[in-house]
Amino acid sequence: MRIRIENGRVLDPATGRDEIGSVLLENGRIQAAFSDGGQEADRVIDASGCWVMPGLIDLHVHFRDPGYTYKETLATGARAAARGGFTAVCPMANTNPVIDTPERVAALAERAEKESVVRILPIGAVTKGLEGEELTDMAGMKAAGAVAFSEDGKTVMNAALYRRGLEQAAALDMVVMDHCEDRNLLQESVMQTGTREEARRVSGVSHSSEDVITARDILLARETGARLHLCHCSTAASAWMAARAKEEGVRLTAEVCPHHFTLTYEDIPEGDTNFKMAPPLREKQDVEVLRQALKNGVMDVISTDHAPHSQEEKARPFPEAPNGIVGSETAVALAVTELVENGVLTPLELAERMSHRPAQILGLPFGTLQVGSPADVTIVDPAAEYVIDKDRFASKGRNTPFHGRRVRGKVLYTIVNGKIVYAAEEEV
Ligand code: DOR
Ligand code: ZN
Ligand code: ZN
Repeated sequence: MRIRIENGRVLDPATGRDEIGSVLLENGRIQAAFSDGGQEADRVIDASGCWVMPGLIDLHVHFRDPGYTYKETLATGARAAARGGFTAVCPMANTNPVIDTPERVAALAERAEKESVVRILPIGAVTKGLEGEELTDMAGMKAAGAVAFSEDGKTVMNAALYRRGLEQAAALDMVVMDHCEDRNLLQESVMQTGTREEARRVSGVSHSSEDVITARDILLARETGARLHLCHCSTAASAWMAARAKEEGVRLTAEVCPHHFTLTYEDIPEGDTNFKMAPPLREKQDVEVLRQALKNGVMDVISTDHAPHSQEEKARPFPEAPNGIVGSETAVALAVTELVENGVLTPLELAERMSHRPAQILGLPFGTLQVGSPADVTIVDPAAEYVIDKDRFASKGRNTPFHGRRVRGKVLYTIVNGKIVYAAEEEV
């Protein structure tokens, strides 16, 4: 199958090129880019007015498989990712059982071959069972195909144990993805302000519950030389600390999720659990600072923290409902509408934050349209305007705060390894 994509605005953040041209895909590789087109092909895609980007990579998703497949499966999560323009995703380890052994990493990778339309890049846990007591076999998991390690969903509260984990990961030259949330500070802030809902309204889920662990782990990364990636940064202070750490040469990278650069706690409708996630929505100033940090590169990456839950779970009262919102199918539109249209990011910078930089962090050969690279491509119509409809999601999750929101920026095609895995035109 030979695919020619023509007349698109071709964006290659790896080389900084941003030009109208054609891209040719064959045998799973980019055969030509920025070309005049006209080559023979089995399929020709007219990308006039569209952005042609290297396939988007989501460093942070929760696919709930194995163990919580009523929320999401490998197959439905992958379909949601493809519909959202992602060609590769990193599922976090907080499944049941936890992905904490080489065998479980290998089993996930093997199942992905059959069940997933996008590339699955597994993440292994830092401690066994995410219990925070005993380190996992990181070398074994790396050999089995893990691309990073993370305790996401939890923080390893024992700093001595975490430092040993960072040392182990550093010796393997592997990234540790960090969920920063001090359990004790979190509980205290919720208790002080009553219900979690009130807590949120007065921003009572304290900034310090995130910032204290961010500071701790930056110090541990500096001491161990480990590569630390800060997940879902939500506070102005996390951007400030990341900037200082990078200046000092700490091997730090960081991500922001679309909800944290779009919403504040003031946007939470009374009791609406679709606005409940960890870390929570913050204040206007935090949003402003995070946008600036995405612009100047202190925040390297946009990832989704796609976290599906069932409608029953999310129907519980606010304090008891689980944290998390789905994000795969709204990320591109929010990035286009909130960042590109507002002049925060250029289209090329968006491709950097959603494709090239994530690939660089993992040390994988994706994120570029250079000839010979894997044929992973995402085509987006930035002008398409529509209303987000949760009932059209490919995800099993319907827990989004963005239902009914008018946005611009629509994924038209997602191509993985030279194969079209999502085409908007085929949707009814
Ligand atoms: O909101 C969240 N949901 N934050 C996390 O860290 C975990 C995630 C989940 O697994 O549901
Ligand atoms: Zn997390
Ligand atoms: Zn997460």
